[in-house]
Amino acid sequence: MFLTKDEERVLDGDFGEAAATAMRLLVSIGEVFEAEKLIPVSSCHVSGVSYKNLGEAGLKLIEDLVEKEAVARVRSTLNPCGMDLRRWREMGVSENFAQRQSALIDLFRKMGIVDTLTCTPYLIGYAPKRGEHIAWGESSAVVFSNSVFGAKTNREAGITALASAIVGKTPLYGAHLEENRTPTHLVRVEGLERKPLHFSCLGYLVGKLAPDARPLFDGIRSGDTSCLKALSAGLATSGGIYIFHSRKWYLGDTKGLERIEITPRELKEVLEEFSSVEEPDAVLMGCPHLSLEELQQVANVLKGRKVAKKLWLFTSRAVLEEAERKGVAQLIAKSGAKIFCDTCMVVSPVEEMGIRSVLTNSCKAAHYLRSLAKVEVSLADAFRCVEVSLGEW
Ligand code: F3S
Repeated sequence: MFLTKDEERVLDGDFGEAAATAMRLLVSIGEVFEAEKLIPVSSCHVSGVSYKNLGEAGLKLIEDLVEKEAVARVRSTLNPCGMDLRRWREMGVSENFAQRQSALIDLFRKMGIVDTLTCTPYLIGYAPKRGEHIAWGESSAVVFSNSVFGAKTNREAGITALASAIVGKTPLYGAHLEENRTPTHLVRVEGLERKPLHFSCLGYLVGKLAPDARPLFDGIRSGDTSCLKALSAGLATSGGIYIFHSRKWYLGDTKGLERIEITPRELKEVLEEFSSVEEPDAVLMGCPHLSLEELQQVANVLKGRKVAKKLWLFTSRAVLEEAERKGVAQLIAKSGAKIFCDTCMVVSPVEEMGIRSVLTNSCKAAHYLRSLAKVEVSLADAFRCVEVSLGEW
């Protein structure tokens, strides 16, 4: 891979040991993927920051980087961590976990990474622009950024996004190249309801059927952010998909594309795949993190009624603050539901929080809760989730 003189100096350690380590990683990846060179990125989003994923080894690695004076050279943000940094006790997180997690977040702050702690940074002022090269972890945000904003990012791992943050560059391969962004499959969708759950199921199904596809959807009429973020998360969960297109905005030729037909029956089968819970311990919503509009919708369904079981809603602190300014958060709190920030049900230590069965409206949450945390899961749309939490279904 071609390196400029300055890049070689970074590699040789002229700009410190941390930058050299990060550069070594980026060069190795570039060589594996036969990248021609490195390109500058305008932002990085670092995922995998929960102590649940990183453990002691990860904490040590990040400490080491900070000791070696690692600093983010470009605007960089953080994905959710393992707990609400303020209300972790209410979540049932242990003292030890909380102490380790807080230490980790402090280390990222020392590197100059903004503690957004959300998987939807694009909802709170960190949306990339069309054509910008970025290095983002968090697969749902990657799909959303490539597809909705027209930015260019591969599905970075936490460590490669961090290396890009430190160096300010990424290898030129994959989604950064135009030829890897055009559609490969035409997906005709019939009878899709305008609900995040249905978009989530559609994404999950297409990811399963064609894990390496770049789908062009025909028949999805909604340009609603909630539905598109649910679709992005679903696509990224069951496959390696990093971009999709819609007939609404794609004007290119569709000849030669592989065809997939999705009918309501197939979507129903996804719902049936996640239907093992009759009486959930908890109703969890916010995968990806909820927008202000979604919190408002929950408040509208609750109508001040008291929840009969745990209803936990996950969002970013910035969205929560907005919800507080508008009085939406107070309405939700009055019903006994809880809004947690900085974290989500998948990256928090649900096992030690005593939650064994969950109802959710997200295929991504359902998939990972079942496969990683061995939690029983069922899916329902947002309205039904709230009604179940009220004991009214
Ligand atoms: Fe976000 Fe956690 Fe889901 S990071 S996309 S809420 S698994």
